[in-house]
Amino acid sequence: MYKDQQLYVAHSAEGPINIIGKMANRHGLIAGATGTGKTVTLQVLAETFSQAGVPCFMADMKGDLSGISQTGGLSKFIEKRCAEWGMDTASLKFEGCPVRFYDVFGQQGHPMRTTIERMGAVLLARLMDLNDTQTGVLTLTFRIAKDENLPLIDMKDLRLMLDYVAKNAKKYETTYGNVSSASVGAIQRALLALAEQGGETFFGEPSFDIFDLLQTEGGRGVMNILAADKLMLQPKLYSTFLMWLLTEIYDKMPEIGDMELPKMIFFFDEAHMLFKDTSKALTDKIEQIVRLIRSKGIGIYFISQSPSDLPEAILGQCGNRVQHALRAFTPKDQAAVKSAAQTFRPNPAFDTEREILELGTGEALVSFLDEKGAPSMVQRAKILFPLSQIGAITAEQRSAINSASRISGKYETVIDRESAFEQIVKQREAMEKEAAEAKAKEAEEKEAARKEKEKATSKSSRSSSKKKSLFATVLGTAVTYFAKTVATQLARNLTKKKR
Ligand SMILES: Nc1ncnc2c1ncn2[C@@H]1O[C@H](COP(=O)(O)OP(=O)(O)OP(=O)(O)O)[C@@H](O)[C@H]1O
Ligand SMILES: [Mg+2]
Repeated sequence: MYKDQQLYVAHSAEGPINIIGKMANRHGLIAGATGTGKTVTLQVLAETFSQAGVPCFMADMKGDLSGISQTGGLSKFIEKRCAEWGMDTASLKFEGCPVRFYDVFGQQGHPMRTTIERMGAVLLARLMDLNDTQTGVLTLTFRIAKDENLPLIDMKDLRLMLDYVAKNAKKYETTYGNVSSASVGAIQRALLALAEQGGETFFGEPSFDIFDLLQTEGGRGVMNILAADKLMLQPKLYSTFLMWLLTEIYDKMPEIGDMELPKMIFFFDEAHMLFKDTSKALTDKIEQIVRLIRSKGIGIYFISQSPSDLPEAILGQCGNRVQHALRAFTPKDQAAVKSAAQTFRPNPAFDTEREILELGTGEALVSFLDEKGAPSMVQRAKILFPLSQIGAITAEQRSAINSASRISGKYETVIDRESAFEQIVKQREAMEKEAAEAKAKEAEEKEAARKEKEKATSKSSRSSSKKKSLFATVLGTAVTYFAKTVATQLARNLTKKKR
């Protein structure tokens, strides 16, 4: 709870524990085994930021974070904690936070879309599990599209663009490099699989404007909640989507100096998914963004079962830590507990490693950065209870929030403007028309030539038949004359004989 300008989120035997506003953008980690209280801790932190006017973004894995939108209430658990901390229950102001729901699949909230272009070849290649050669082909396809002014917006743009590049591979070879048809085929197949995962709805326009995440309502930060129950079944899509979002935020937000409070807090649940099967290059890129995004006033809080789920370089940047209980059934678990304990600045009052195993639900080892940015000594503490509702809301409550949202209608309808697909189709149609016209012209010319030839042939044959008939007439006359002469001669001879 935000109290006396303090981000009060936990309570130890010595009293309240606050996150220092100025240090909240130095990132954080919430770790712990299943059911130890990670989601409620996230909710407590997020609503505290909201009360202070800081918007947050979070992925809701099980739907249980949606309760942050509703007014919470007293419970035996809360009464007990208040009594323990000397807090008057009558002074508690239970209330929900302003919330906006998002859903990549557009079902439980506003759709969150981006274009193929903005996702970029590197993230897309990861999403589709492409190898280095295929990634190279995808990268040059993006470059050709850019050079030829063919916008890649949705999946049909990319599909046709790949086909276009493959069919003109010879033309591009010298300037861009080799495009093997086998690689293009593999990318096309991967695209098909991506479409089945929901890619068709995710890629398109209007693409999401990250500034919609940076809103306040009535002085309170808006909680932007991404429905991730379905999305997390496709870990690659989930993690790549969040990576894209981070990159967008990083690219678009201006640099800011030191501030009393962060601009926005980003909660990254199931954080291990982000780094699973990720190339070294991409891990380095995430690490770099995490490091640099701080200067833009953005804090990232990773939520995972064990700190060892995160790469060392990222873990080292998480200044604010909440470690819930871990279990140690196997030697591997024990090693994870040991390394989790070692990430804290020790407290001489207890053994950190043993303490991690003994924490109850909603209890944690806590260490936040102090005013100077140094990690405070680890403390055993109880996390505050949320003033909003714990647990999921109903479908009716969700749809009421969706329709009342200020951005309702902004992203709901897909716009399919002219892009690479339409332009290539147009180009092909024009080429086909040209080819058909050339063919028709050729046929016409052939026909004309044939007719000409025919005409010439018939003329010559007519003149020869004319010659023939003249000859026949002459011959006929000659024959008739000859016959007549012979007959006359014969008649004369006969008459002579008779006499
Ligand atoms: N700070 C708290 N205040 C009040 N109740 C709490 C608190 N922390 C945990 N609880 C109770 O414990 C339950 C389990 O906590 P939570 O859902 O946060 O665990 P989790 O670590 O997120 O579990 P999972 O790994 O299964 O997601 C909550 O539903 C709530 O009833
Ligand atoms: Mg949880």
